Amino acid sequence: MAATPSGVGKIADFYEGLGRVLNAVWGENLHYGYWEDEADDSTVEVATARLTDLLITLLAPATGAAILDIGCGVGKPALQLVAARDVRVTGIAISDVEIEQATTRAVEAGRSDVTAFRNADVMALPFADGSFDGAWAIESMLHVPDRGRALAETARVLRPGGRLVIADTVEIQPVGPEGREILDEICATYHVSSFADAAEYSELLVANGFIDVEIRDISDKVMRTGVIMAEAVRARRDELARINGAEPVDQYIDLMRRAAASPDNGYLVMRATLDPARSS
Ligand SMILES: C[S@@+](CC[C@H](N)C(=O)[O-])C[C@H]1O[C@@H](n2cnc3c(N)ncnc32)[C@H](O)[C@@H]1O
Repeated sequence: MAATPSGVGKIADFYEGLGRVLNAVWGENLHYGYWEDEADDSTVEVATARLTDLLITLLAPATGAAILDIGCGVGKPALQLVAARDVRVTGIAISDVEIEQATTRAVEAGRSDVTAFRNADVMALPFADGSFDGAWAIESMLHVPDRGRALAETARVLRPGGRLVIADTVEIQPVGPEGREILDEICATYHVSSFADAAEYSELLVANGFIDVEIRDISDKVMRTGVIMAEAVRARRDELARINGAEPVDQYIDLMRRAAASPDNGYLVMRATLDPARSS
C-alpha cells in the first residue's frame, strides 16, 4: 500500500481489509440503505441507491457544476451522480485500493471524462480555494479525527454559495450506558474516531461559514441496514470465518444486531450553503 496521509493509515487498512469483505457482502455502495416503511422490501442495491438519490436531490447541482465527493469509496455514488446530473465529480478517499477501484469502474462505465479519483485526506485537501461548486460526504465524516478541520478545508475549496451535503451515523442524545457500549464497539470495529451528534454538526457548520443549515433525522428509514448486514454476514459465516477467524465474524454479527436495535445511534442527512458573502 502506498503511503497515506498521516493519521489515517489504519482507516485505509480497514477499507482494504474488513471493508473489502463487507463490500463483497453488501455491494459497492458503502453506505446505508433507505427503506420507505416496514412494507418496503427493496433489495440492498435499490435501497442504497435510493439513499444516494435523496442526497442528489439535496445537493441539487447546477448543470456543469464541479462536485467534490469526500470519502468516495469505490466510486458508486459518484457514478450515480454523473448519471443523474450533468456535473463533473472529483472523488477523494484515503485508500489507494478504493481509488484504483473507483477509477476502473469509471472507465468501465465510460464516465472517466467527468470523474476523477485521487488519494487525499479531507483534513488537508490538495485543491485551490473555491475550486468546487458543491460537495458531499457520504458516511466519511465519522472517520475523520478532526471534523472541524475537515469542514474548514471543505469550506476553503468550495466557492461562496456552494452547497454541502453530509450523510452520517451519529449519536442520539442522551446516550445511555448500553448505547455507549455499542457506540464504542462500533468505533473500534469501523475505525470511527468518534460519533458526532446533530448539535456538534450544526455548531461546526456555522463556525466554518455555512448558513441555511438543515438537519434531518432519517434513522427510522435506514436502521434496517444493520439487520440486513448482520444477516448477509451470517449467511456467509463459514466462508468469512475461514478468512477472518470465527470469533470476529460472530462478534460482528452480534454488534450489527444490537446496533440496529439501539435508540442511541441514528442517522442524519444535512445540507448547508457556504455563505455567499464569504470571500474565498
Ligand atoms: C463508509 S465509506 C463510504 C464510501 C462512499 N461515500 C459510499 O457511500 O459508497 C467511508 C469512506 O471515507 C473515506 N475516508 C475516511 N477517512 C477519510 C479522510 N480523512 N479523508 C478522506 N476520505 C476519508 C474512506 O476511504 C471511505 O472511502
